[in-house]
Amino acid sequence: MSVIYLDNNATTRIDPEVVAAMLPYLNEFYGNPSSMHSFGGQVGRAVKTAREQVASLLGALDSEIVFTSCGSEGNNTAIRAALAAQPDKRHIVTTQVEHAAVLNVCNQLEKEGYRVTYLSVDRRGQLDLCELEAALTGDTALVTTMYANNETGTVFPIVEIGSLAKAWGASFHVDAVQAVGKLPLNMADSPIDLLTLSGHKLHAPKGIGALYVRRGFRFRPYLIGGHQERGRRAGTENVAGIVALGKAAELTQQYFTGSVAIAHEQVLRDRLEQGLLATISDCEINGDPAKRLPNTTNIGFKYIEGEAILFMLNQHEICASSGSACTSGSLEPSHVLRAMGLPYTTLHGSIRFSLSRYTTIAEVDRVLAVMPGIVQRLRDLSPFKDDSADWLQDREVALA
Ligand SMILES: Cc1ncc(COP(=O)(O)O)c(C=O)c1O
Repeated sequence: MSVIYLDNNATTRIDPEVVAAMLPYLNEFYGNPSSMHSFGGQVGRAVKTAREQVASLLGALDSEIVFTSCGSEGNNTAIRAALAAQPDKRHIVTTQVEHAAVLNVCNQLEKEGYRVTYLSVDRRGQLDLCELEAALTGDTALVTTMYANNETGTVFPIVEIGSLAKAWGASFHVDAVQAVGKLPLNMADSPIDLLTLSGHKLHAPKGIGALYVRRGFRFRPYLIGGHQERGRRAGTENVAGIVALGKAAELTQQYFTGSVAIAHEQVLRDRLEQGLLATISDCEINGDPAKRLPNTTNIGFKYIEGEAILFMLNQHEICASSGSACTSGSLEPSHVLRAMGLPYTTLHGSIRFSLSRYTTIAEVDRVLAVMPGIVQRLRDLSPFKDDSADWLQDREVALA
């Protein structure tokens, strides 16, 4: 039995065409793209092509693409660049449900003297634009939000958020690591100044990403050194990774224009979701049912632990993910699900299944076949069988 991989928001399989495109740049064409000789020059041309491919996917100009090493670098760079662009301003607006690559940067910036507003979300994981409007002031240098949430798939209204940010003269950065390849983007008519993407979420390898920087944006580099990337990111280019990202962007774009494939992911996601809800009691979808990534479903199975479900799924060679992060030996519930105000019982039993274009109907049906038994076995063992018990009230208070 081969692995059933439903953890594509964590990372994706590298597309075989992407592997084929990058291999020559590991084996044969190892020149430095900045070299004057033609051996390096041909490598430089490959980097140029990749930049065009990524720009095309985003509806951006080639000159607006800066290659990075990952989404975390893109987010760090974008946030620092936006603050440097308006050095007199000391306020940042973000949300409580960002990835650590934004949240922890904001925490650090608070220590450096910035004021940060962390916008709340509702039960669907959705923002209240009135809260955003009330938070913005003339001192706001930056609004930084994700496009789609990695845990729940909830999609934020980035055009509306960006328009409000612009009205107050703030820069707008979007962490689109989960959205690129799943939702269409057109930077030409968007209020976005800076946008982060990561290769390994769209069937390219780990260790390559890109940052979109709007033309004319006063950009300060994060990595300082040589003049690569037109002085915006020092360091000899990860050529094979860049070529791979370019190819992955091209394939993704074909995939969008075909539109059948995205529908394929959504159809399978819905089949999985509806099948689980129909056969298992006491479970519910975490996230915005109307505005969600087509490949993601996060489901809370009450009264049991997500890690126990994952463990048992693993025995069937099924890969999924839970919202908890193991911090210093104790299982902390996900900050995203907590921000959504989920009750204790659902918070701990939440599982994310994230599909890809490689997911098959047989794989989904296999999950549907094993999940009811897993949940039943764990519930039979669980001491927690209803929401009203005293222990539960204590834990809700402890979490608050
Ligand atoms: C929304 C989001 N932002 C940023 C990142 C970080 O990307 P990377 O792993 O490429 O650093 C991730 C990774 O899971 C993510 O989901």
